Amino acid sequence: MRRPVIAGNWKMYKTQAEARAFMAKLLPLVANSQHCEIVVAPPYTALAATAEAAKGSTITVAAQNAHWEKEGAFTGEISMPMLVEAGCQGVILGHSERRHLFHETNENIAKKVRAALDNNLRPIVCVGELLHERESNLTHAILEKQFEGAFAALTADDFSRILLAYEPVWAIGTGRTATPEIAADAHRYLRELAQKRFSTEKASALRILYGGSVKPDNIKGLMAQVEIDGALVGGASLDAQSFASIVNF
Ligand code: 13P
Repeated sequence: MRRPVIAGNWKMYKTQAEARAFMAKLLPLVANSQHCEIVVAPPYTALAATAEAAKGSTITVAAQNAHWEKEGAFTGEISMPMLVEAGCQGVILGHSERRHLFHETNENIAKKVRAALDNNLRPIVCVGELLHERESNLTHAILEKQFEGAFAALTADDFSRILLAYEPVWAIGTGRTATPEIAADAHRYLRELAQKRFSTEKASALRILYGGSVKPDNIKGLMAQVEIDGALVGGASLDAQSFASIVNF
């Protein structure tokens, strides 16, 4: 049985004060939610405040990106040890906005995955195809390339520490959610890749989250699919009430 994970990716939203106010509202709403893991991913500047507010609860904090080096002359970058110090337990890597707006490559994502694991941070690795790739029947080919690119150098034990998120780019921020069937089909394919690359056991333990216009009114249908082990929520995770309804699907 795979324990569901509901994660909120705040993207470039919320100051420290807003993060504290959000957590104060969220905590009582999910205090009895034992059926899933809850993760929030604030922007860098609000990580420590959010981690502080989450203390004593089951909510864990993840960052949205990080550099692979421990330190160095990399203006504007943040390292994995810095995230650990700020109270993070995980880090989102390879989000489509990083890949497409900031030109992140599979090669760099692989280095980040390695660095996260070496620093005891759980990577939440995102993969997903663009609309024209889906329309050209390239979805599986793209997913395979991103999967291999991120995980080629990992051992099976490394791999068991990862969360995968399938986020079709055409569904992100568009209100156009993938149907539960479309999402489940991609998840099934990703699990097959995990089985081929690692093992049947690791593949069946792998948790794959769906992301892309997840809302309180579509989470139930998505979670009804056995292949879908949780959600990575953008816009609807910014409001405590709405995020709590998704958590309590
Ligand atoms: P939306 O839920 O706003 O579509 O964003 C999804 C996402 O990118 C989560 O990482």
